[in-house]
Amino acid sequence: VTPSPLDALVRDRLGIDPASLGPGVLPAALDHRMTARHVTTADAYAGLLAAEPGEWAALVAELVVPETWFFRGGRPLFDHLAGWVAARAAAPVRILSLPCSTGEEPCSLAIALHDRGVSPTAYQIDGIDLAAAHLARAAAGRFAAFAFREAGADPRRAHFRPTDDGRWELSPELRQAVRFRLGNAVEPALLKDDGPYDLVLCRHLFIYLTPQARDRVVANLERLLAADGRLCVSPAEAARFPQDRFRACGPPAFCLFEHAAPSVGRSESSTPQMGRWPASGLAKPRPDLQESVTDTCRSGRGGSAARPDAGHKHKPDSPADPLAAARELADAGRLDDALAAYERAALSHTSADGFSLLGIIELARGRSDAAAQSFRKALYLDPNHPEALSHMIVLCEQRGELARAAALRRRLARVEPEEPA
Ligand SMILES: C[S@@+](CC[C@H](N)C(=O)[O-])C[C@H]1O[C@@H](n2cnc3c(N)ncnc32)[C@H](O)[C@@H]1O
Repeated sequence: VTPSPLDALVRDRLGIDPASLGPGVLPAALDHRMTARHVTTADAYAGLLAAEPGEWAALVAELVVPETWFFRGGRPLFDHLAGWVAARAAAPVRILSLPCSTGEEPCSLAIALHDRGVSPTAYQIDGIDLAAAHLARAAAGRFAAFAFREAGADPRRAHFRPTDDGRWELSPELRQAVRFRLGNAVEPALLKDDGPYDLVLCRHLFIYLTPQARDRVVANLERLLAADGRLCVSPAEAARFPQDRFRACGPPAFCLFEHAAPSVGRSESSTPQMGRWPASGLAKPRPDLQESVTDTCRSGRGGSAARPDAGHKHKPDSPADPLAAARELADAGRLDDALAAYERAALSHTSADGFSLLGIIELARGRSDAAAQSFRKALYLDPNHPEALSHMIVLCEQRGELARAAALRRRLARVEPEEPA
């Protein structure tokens, strides 16, 4: 049973709703920490938490969900944001990623900005997270192959180098574009000496928070966003945004918001001159930015999808693989052809890879129920299939099945263990 004073502390100080983590997660974390610290009562452990910031960090590490990946939400979203930043008349443009987790979100934006020809000196990205361990991994700039599971052009060749331990290291130039800092999104004094920010990304946070904590985050976002700034959220946040304070703007699929009304004292962050980057700061824009089937899924037609990891064992082996052919057709947006190719492949064999691919095709066709059924079948055949697990997690979260999502997330973490900080 969760000791209730500790439950209340976690809700109040971290804003985390223990129910969102799945039954048993908070009691297990508390049990683990109390055993490690040799205390037996909730009051004694609450005393340790009050006296030692380091103990909070240890408890946080047990509770928070680090899941993130490069270009989560689709490359078109990040290209859109990069275009908005490039047209901005601020110098430098100030960007906030809250929460940034292990860094993939802010680094994706830095990559999209580079590919658009925007120099890293023309913007500053702050990545904020509650978990020191996530920030340490972010600052190291080394990512496992599974961090590149989003569909679309793979950024690794252009911006990363392989490391001896099988990871991918982001170029120093782009690493320096992001500053990682510890911060609590529900703390009223968050970044009180900073801001305003021209662009704020606040994605995949609300699902873990209590309603009161969400209100506190909204108040912080309102304070930290420049008068003419843009806020980018995920559908989970968008559905819960107070419309009297933020109004939707931009392509609906991207979940962008601006202040609903100008408020006295809120500053404009952009300088008044025309927004052009100095020619010396321009890199060559990349011509090959393209949208693939999973980008399409994410941009509003049937939910979300993660990419089959290029380096992963579940990737089809060769173009001769009939499923690989179906996958290529799906990535090219030829959904009917992909489905036909899938059906031909399914005649000869039934596999978890096949059902997972069918799920992706169904997602792209906007049929999330059918997609969920396919991912379920994939997981029946292979309970540890990372691609099917990733999609099912997102589908469950979208349906509000948070306990199931949390259980699947734990399974995914076992299959794709985090690298040490
Ligand atoms: C699922 S990740 C989302 C990361 C990224 N924004 C994305 O969409 O991929 C959630 C992150 O929120 C962080 N987090 C949870 N509660 C927080 C809080 N109160 N303040 C700041 N970060 C928090 C966790 O440590 C975790 O890294």
